[in-house]
Amino acid sequence: MSRRISIFDTTLRDGEQVPGAKLNKKQKIEIAQQLARLGVDVIEAGFPSSSPEELQAIKAVSEQVRGPVIAGLARAVQQDIDAAWEAVKGADRPRIHVFLGSSDIHLQKKLRKDRESALSMAADAVRYAKAFCEDVEYSTEDASRTDFEYLCRVVDTAIHAGATVINIPDTVGYAIPDEFGDLIRRLKEHVPALDRVVLSVHCHNDLGLAVANSISAVKNGAQQVECTINGVGERAGNASLEEIVMILKTRPSVYQAHTEIQTQEIYRTSRMVSRLMNIPVQPNKAVVGGNAFAHSSGVHQDGILKDRCTYEIMKPEDVGIKQHKIVLTARSGRAALKHKLSELGYDLDQERFERVHSRFLNVADRKKEIGSEDLTAIVEIELTKVAEAFSFSQLQIMSGNTMVPMACVTLKKEGEIITDASTGNGPVNAVFNCIDRLVGYQGILKDFDLKAVTMGKDALGEAMVRVEIEGSVYSGVGTSPDVIEASARAYLNAFNRFLANSQ
Ligand code: KIV
Ligand code: ZN
Repeated sequence: MSRRISIFDTTLRDGEQVPGAKLNKKQKIEIAQQLARLGVDVIEAGFPSSSPEELQAIKAVSEQVRGPVIAGLARAVQQDIDAAWEAVKGADRPRIHVFLGSSDIHLQKKLRKDRESALSMAADAVRYAKAFCEDVEYSTEDASRTDFEYLCRVVDTAIHAGATVINIPDTVGYAIPDEFGDLIRRLKEHVPALDRVVLSVHCHNDLGLAVANSISAVKNGAQQVECTINGVGERAGNASLEEIVMILKTRPSVYQAHTEIQTQEIYRTSRMVSRLMNIPVQPNKAVVGGNAFAHSSGVHQDGILKDRCTYEIMKPEDVGIKQHKIVLTARSGRAALKHKLSELGYDLDQERFERVHSRFLNVADRKKEIGSEDLTAIVEIELTKVAEAFSFSQLQIMSGNTMVPMACVTLKKEGEIITDASTGNGPVNAVFNCIDRLVGYQGILKDFDLKAVTMGKDALGEAMVRVEIEGSVYSGVGTSPDVIEASARAYLNAFNRFLANSQ
């Protein structure tokens, strides 16, 4: 009999803790809607007490995204729990997720509490949350480094106080698979009350074992796995959702467990998260990396041509990687664009459609054919733009290996055209210097990534940047058939995020 494993996605909370990956409200909603299409059971939409903007963004997700449970994280204190309830109470199925450290290291060094007072703090917090919300998850932070007897007491106490889900995190990625699986099995044996709640795990990837630990926990009885798209998250990241789901799908006889994830939505979700958080996916990343289904050696190609199962254990179509026939050009009409968008799952109102249409024409004028990947990039970037203090208008560059590169950039600020010129040690640097002058701030480039959205010499270029502005890091993304323009758009996008944030 196959057990149903619940997928708790924390991309919008643990994932968002990656420096520079902060999302605005629109972006959070866009990703949450895609997570709902993907079929996750729970969306942890954020940490409401961290800022009023974060609370409002989670509230919007709770009110607009239907299907999954929507959870908000809270420390075990009333103020956080109040904020969490305020944020999730509009959801069809709200959950408050309370956490408190349980290891001696956390109790002594961070919380400065003894075990007994931490235990009553946990019980009080769960009872307080339960008065608002039927569904309360309790996480014993740093569980994998917690004394086992004490961990059992914490779990039992939280259940008796009303927790409906108990989460066992490997907060610092210290566990190893056999040991972590064993921990889950022993907990189930020692805490009979666990039979009436959902037992969850949450693993970090500091030793590269987050997925292995999660899957070992599933084998030993865990019913919920907490994970993120592309494995993004604090430090080395969290367990990757797509890997866990595809392990269970590819090896059903080993785990006798399955999820309800619509696996053909995986690739699209991965691209969307990468783009909106500005975190590139490494080419050799399992399941969603650019090379995950690429066969380069002659022997492998020969095998694949004879029968794909010689070197493929999953079908690219199963995770939503399709070789779409390119269909749109600058001459494709509005109806064709609308049709293609709806094929890709976008149902846009008139105002959003007009924005996408105008950017589509701008790109299609320079790129002969627009494929699904191009269109997806255009839609995601256009629809999740923050209100733009500065919008990109024009760019000219002069560059070569025997001259000092020079850029001239034109932007629009509240309808007014502003232009400036600058030099740099390369064309991109000259453009960035010029944008600094136009917006009146000095950006420090922390990260710069440039890639082609599709194959071919005329591919759409996608630039991702992380820029330090006035002491904080902002990310930006931009696309264009011209890679220097894509870079300029990305850099300007980071400034617009900074300016939207400072209002
Ligand atoms: O890693 C961790 O322990 C967490 C908890 C808040 C669940 O993220
Ligand atoms: Zn975590």
